[in-house]
Amino acid sequence: MRTFKELVADFGERFSVRHFPFTPATLYEPGEYFLSWGGKRIRPVMCLMGNELFDEIRPDTYEVATAIELFHNFTLIHDDIMDQAALRRGMETVHVKYGTNTALLTGDVMMIQAYEYLNKIDSQYLHRILQLFNKTAKEVCEGQQLDIDFEKMNTVSLDAYLNMISLKTSVLLAASLEIGAILGGASEGNCRHIYEFGKHLGIAFQIQDDFLDAFGDPEKFGKEVGGDIRQNKKTFLLLYAMEVASTEQKQRLQQLMEQNPADKVAQVLSIFKACNVDAWAKELKEKYLQTALQHLEDIAVLSLRKKPLQELAAFLIQRES
Ligand code: IPE
Ligand code: IPE
Ligand code: MG
Ligand code: MG
Ligand code: MG
Repeated sequence: MRTFKELVADFGERFSVRHFPFTPATLYEPGEYFLSWGGKRIRPVMCLMGNELFDEIRPDTYEVATAIELFHNFTLIHDDIMDQAALRRGMETVHVKYGTNTALLTGDVMMIQAYEYLNKIDSQYLHRILQLFNKTAKEVCEGQQLDIDFEKMNTVSLDAYLNMISLKTSVLLAASLEIGAILGGASEGNCRHIYEFGKHLGIAFQIQDDFLDAFGDPEKFGKEVGGDIRQNKKTFLLLYAMEVASTEQKQRLQQLMEQNPADKVAQVLSIFKACNVDAWAKELKEKYLQTALQHLEDIAVLSLRKKPLQELAAFLIQRES
C-alpha cells in the first residue's frame, strides 16, 4: 500500500506525457498548456486508492484514472469561461490566453480524449464503469447549471446549496473512488460505502474551496481571490451571512450584489468577517468529514488499509490551494 503522496507522484509521472496530436496546434497546444500546469491530481489518485483498498492496482486503473483527470480538466476549462475567471493554478486561463471559442473546443476534445482512455478498460468492467461515469458527468452539468442559476437569485437555502455542490463537485470524487473499487473487485456494499465516503468528503472539499475563494492566500491559491463574490455566487459564506447579519448588513450585501462597485470584494469580505463565517466553515466541514469517515469505517476491509484514505481526507479539508 502506498501513501497518498506516493500515489500522487506515481500518477503525476505517468500523466506527464503528451495527450494530444500536434496538429492543428491551435486546438491542441492550449490543452497541453493547461495540463502541464499541474493541479493536485486528487481524483485520479482517488481512483487508484479505491482500487488499492481492495487489491493490487491493475494496469487499466491507470487508464481510467487518466480519463478522470482529463474529464476534470475539461470541466475546469469550461468552468473558467462560465465563471469569467482569469487565473487558475497561478496561470492565465485557457479562454483568456487563447479566446473563448478555442477554450470551448479544447475542453470538448479533452472530454472526448477522456473517453478514449475509458475505452481501454477490461471489457468485463467497461459497461458498469461507463454507466457510472456518464451518470456522474451528467450530474456535474446539472450542478454547474444550478450554480449559474443561483447567481441570479437573491439567496438560496442551505439544502439547495449542498445539493448544487454535491452535483458539481462531490459526485466526481465519489465516482473516482467507486470506479477504483469496482476494478479492485469490491462488493456492492463496499462500493456503496466508498461512494458515500467520497460524496461527503467532496462536500467538505467544496466548502473549503468556497472558503479559500474568499479568504485564501493569493500566493498559494492560484485562482483570483474574491472571484465568487464578484460573480454573486451563492456560497455557504453568503448564505450564512444573509442569515446572521444585521438588517443593515443584509441590505448592504444586497446592494453590493446588485451594484457591483469597484470595492465590492473588500466590502463583502468585511461583512463575512464580522459574521464569523470562518467558525461556521469549520463546523460545516467537520460535520461532513465525520459522516465521510463513518462510511470509511463501515467498509469491510482491514482498517490498516484505510490509512491512505484517512490521510487524503485530512489533506483535502486543510488544503490551501
Ligand atoms: C477545482 O478542483 C474545482 C473544484 C471542484 C473545486 P481542484 O481543486 O481539484 O483543482 P486542481 O485540479 O487541483 O487544479
Ligand atoms: C467548479 O466549482 C466545479 C467544476 C468545475 C465542475 P468552482 O467554480 O468553485 O471551481 P473553481 O473554484 O473555479 O476551481
Ligand atoms: Mg470556477
Ligand atoms: Mg464554477
Ligand atoms: Mg471555487
